[in-house]
Amino acid sequence: MRILILGGTTQASELARALAGRPDVAPLLSLAGRTQNPAPAPIPCRIGGFGGAEGLATFLRDEKFDVLIDATHPFAAQISANARVASAISGVPLLVFSRPAWAPGAGDQWREVATMAEAVAALGEAPRRVFLTQGRLQLAAFAAAPQHFYLVRAIDEPDELRLLPHHKFISARGPFTLEGERELMRGEGIEILVSKNSGGEATAAKLAAARALNIPVILVARPQAEGAAEVVRLEEALAWIEAHRPNP
Ligand SMILES: NC(=O)c1ccc[n+]([C@@H]2O[C@H](COP(=O)([O-])OP(=O)(O)OC[C@H]3O[C@@H](n4cnc5c(N)ncnc54)[C@H](OP(=O)(O)O)[C@@H]3O)[C@@H](O)[C@H]2O)c1
Repeated sequence: MRILILGGTTQASELARALAGRPDVAPLLSLAGRTQNPAPAPIPCRIGGFGGAEGLATFLRDEKFDVLIDATHPFAAQISANARVASAISGVPLLVFSRPAWAPGAGDQWREVATMAEAVAALGEAPRRVFLTQGRLQLAAFAAAPQHFYLVRAIDEPDELRLLPHHKFISARGPFTLEGERELMRGEGIEILVSKNSGGEATAAKLAAARALNIPVILVARPQAEGAAEVVRLEEALAWIEAHRPNP
């Protein structure tokens, strides 16, 4: 059974590990090529765009894939839209393997905004020490508020850093621990955290650390995706794959 996994997330890696070494499946992991040294994949991997939805549909057909799994990040809206169109064009069934959005609990001081530009505005006028964890994407939005100090964490150093007069860069790849996040935020005197509402466990520790340190959080809401089967647990993804095994 030929399975194309659109990845770049902890969840895609989890699915790849679950399928690795099985004689009855032939999975291929696809990465956009955004990070210079992606984590090693336990299954065959290809890197780079397909050339839009049409390109992806052609790839699915030419390579005779049986199913397409969209396990990309909830904020990677373009590739997910392409996956829906490519599935419709090619007739290859699509599953979105996602994760629930984070929800606030007791003690959380969260403010949800719709866009990164709103997050910038929500920081206010007075200079603050801000922790940014959205990686290199959309960093340029913070150039509109140069009075703040930004602690920026990403895997690779973003070019957009030069747009922020006061910043410190940390290169790191999740998962992160509560203890580590607390130490980092306390050590850097962080006063506010900005994050996408990505969901998932690998990067949730920063929210627990913010709660423990009484630090407010600005969360950017995720874009809405509709029209495809969606699961959030690995066992559900594996069951869906099994249910879509082609007849011999
Ligand atoms: N956005 C985030 O916050 C975020 C966070 C963590 C990880 N990621 C991962 O980073 C990658 C890029 O994210 P993005 O927000 O830049 O994506 P995007 O804006 O949705 O996609 C832009 C283009 O990148 C190519 N692409 C994206 N994901 C791909 C994949 N898995 N395999 C092959 N091509 C892919 C596609 O090019 P073509 O049209 O040429 O096919 C797509 O049209 C995704 O794989 C995502 O899972 C994103």
